[in-house]
Amino acid sequence: MKRLDQVLAADKVPAELELVINDVIVACKDIAYKLRQGELAGILGATEDENVQGETQKKLDVISNDLLKDMLVSNPFVRGIGSEEEDYTVAGSAQGKYLVTFDPLDGSSNIDVNLSVGTIFSILEAQDDRSGDQQEVFLQNGRKQVAAGYVLYGPSALLVMTTGNGVNIFTLDTTVGEFVLTKSGIQIPEDTAEFAINMSNQRFWEPEMKQYIDDCLKGEEGPLGKRYNMRWVASMVAEVHRILMRGGIFMYPWDNRDPSKAGKLRLMYEGNPMSMIVEQAGGASSTGRMDIMDVQPEGIHDRVPVVLGSKNEVAKVVGYHKK
Ligand code: AHG
Ligand code: MN
Ligand code: MN
Repeated sequence: MKRLDQVLAADKVPAELELVINDVIVACKDIAYKLRQGELAGILGATEDENVQGETQKKLDVISNDLLKDMLVSNPFVRGIGSEEEDYTVAGSAQGKYLVTFDPLDGSSNIDVNLSVGTIFSILEAQDDRSGDQQEVFLQNGRKQVAAGYVLYGPSALLVMTTGNGVNIFTLDTTVGEFVLTKSGIQIPEDTAEFAINMSNQRFWEPEMKQYIDDCLKGEEGPLGKRYNMRWVASMVAEVHRILMRGGIFMYPWDNRDPSKAGKLRLMYEGNPMSMIVEQAGGASSTGRMDIMDVQPEGIHDRVPVVLGSKNEVAKVVGYHKK
């Protein structure tokens, strides 16, 4: 069985990047152990605060954020971090080359009901010598990512990661506290008949998205000619993981509940890292109108409509937007 460091060495990942990835993983292991303790550790429930996204912070959102932040800003190779739970980017080391953005706890509405949650991370290289507290250093499109990954805290804790050389899956061996390689060369099936979308927002979608889902619901008799199944875990990490394992399409489209927002999900903590993983596994990822990783961020907390998963199904949704 291969350990993470052996896989990174085989992929010729620079030593400094490996040290940054390791620190992300140390924090994620800590989050995994805290989640296992659950109520016993007094970590469930909400805080009295809201994050910059206008969402109530759960205790575990804050704990996970602090674990990742504290590890990373003291790493000499990290210039700075950007987090869904931080108003501003935070400076690390002036000499650091890497920028790390993360969603410390994704799917937080699942915490208190003991269902799957995850951590998502993305790593970029600083292109100039500005400090990590300047958000402009981070404003690079998703194609510039040098690594992306997530940890799914499910029945087992899994690390899914790419450094641009395919997608590997590691399982946390709790007996030794190490992630060990359990699957490599992940390929998402190109076709699917399983979609994931929050159907309760249907009346707020654009006509293109309404039409696609209407056609899915028509089944064999409809223009798409197949009977679709549906899943919605309300945790993007769990959703993307299911798609990596058996195909599918995940959508969180723009909707007019708050027309000023480009979508619910965030480009730099959710859209870009998940898009890199999905593309590295042979899938596709789009806003409906362009590839997510080609979107130029204008602010660290930018949001984006998301359509990702099995290649041919994503192409169909893009086709609806072209009509
Ligand atoms: P977060 O917990 O980081 O705010 O993200 C939750 C996201 C994503 O994981 C999930 O797909 C979606 O929000 C769920 O949204 P609904 O509440 O509309 O189901
Ligand atoms: Mn999230
Ligand atoms: Mn989150």
